[in-house]
Amino acid sequence: MVKVAPSILSADFSKLGEEIKRLEHAGADWIHIDVMDGVFVPNITIGQAVVKNLRPCTALPFDVHLMITKPERYVKEFAAAGADYITIHQEASDEITATLEEIHACGKKAGLSLNPETSFNAVIPYLDKIDLLLVMTVHPGFGGQAFMAECLPKVQAAKNLVEENGYQLEISVDGGINYETGQQAVTAGASVLAAGSAIFKAPNMQREIQQWHELSRQ
Ligand code: DX5
Ligand code: ZN
Repeated sequence: MVKVAPSILSADFSKLGEEIKRLEHAGADWIHIDVMDGVFVPNITIGQAVVKNLRPCTALPFDVHLMITKPERYVKEFAAAGADYITIHQEASDEITATLEEIHACGKKAGLSLNPETSFNAVIPYLDKIDLLLVMTVHPGFGGQAFMAECLPKVQAAKNLVEENGYQLEISVDGGINYETGQQAVTAGASVLAAGSAIFKAPNMQREIQQWHELSRQ
């Protein structure tokens, strides 16, 4: 079954704990937490103190997406705060292998993400070292942007290499995902759909998530 990872970037920040419980009751699989530093991306969002305070609100895995420069500086802090998946950006670090190893040394799952303009070749060397590949389908920084279908060949290429080499990793897509673009991403090989706007704007969040769960490759 396709996993649904709603992004709390689209939640009401004045009541994040309640929003996470609402997502859990609606059937979310993971909680996607977008961490932005105002440097790697032109926006500032959530830090490790907030993650720590949200941790008791749910038993669902926290899928922490670090859109921060030199993420190696904060791996231990997000691990201690209760992240389950810690995803760094290929473009944000000169120490990718060491950082992925550090995430694993903290007992956490390691993710690697790539921006729309980054070639898939840039992440190939790390596919045997990660648990999650997060393919950006918008320029990171803001929710509510239009899906970039031109990023889907990266999902397909990742899926092909996973099948050829037996890598154990989830392929997630992030940005502009709704039911229709989610179907395209699943057909290309995505196993996780990260989405903010479409989940929080859905008239019936539970039904929306259920429909996404039923997507399959076509
Ligand atoms: C974008 C974030 C996304 C964002 C997606 O920089 O990484 O996770 O929340 O939001 P939507 O689903 O609205 O594009
Ligand atoms: Zn994200």
